[in-house]
Amino acid sequence: MKILVINGPNLNMLGIREPEHYGRETYADLTEKIRTYCADKGIEVTVFQSNHEGALVDEIQKAYGIMDGIVINPGAYTHTSIAILDAVKSVGIPTVEVHISKVEEREDFRQISYIRLACAKTITGHGTDGYLEAIDYLIEGR
Ligand code: DQA
Repeated sequence: MKILVINGPNLNMLGIREPEHYGRETYADLTEKIRTYCADKGIEVTVFQSNHEGALVDEIQKAYGIMDGIVINPGAYTHTSIAILDAVKSVGIPTVEVHISKVEEREDFRQISYIRLACAKTITGHGTDGYLEAIDYLIEGR
């Protein structure tokens, strides 16, 4: 099984940015955690991060016919990007939306998620463990 884990803008700043929302683990810690988890489960994982909307769309398109599942935290593009929503819809790959923070308890503008319309599941507020839960969900649905 092949899983693509995609992180959007500012997630490379984990460990530095707003630790009260996102914790102290760095992006390197997160990628290591995901890679170790997937290796233990015999899952082939690709981990990708970009601050650019088009690069995220490109990576989702590249997954077509290759990946069996996508875990995506689009960062702030969650709340604005129809292009990323359309990309996920285009490839038709089972996708799980992850947010490290509890977005539902934050600002009004974070209450809109375009990507959610194309996702089988949403996980919020579980810190970086949410990515592992998303991977488990995709494995179970395989
Ligand atoms: C986030 C929540 C978004 O509102 C924010 O813009 C992010 C991170 C999260 O993981 O909690 O960049 O997706």
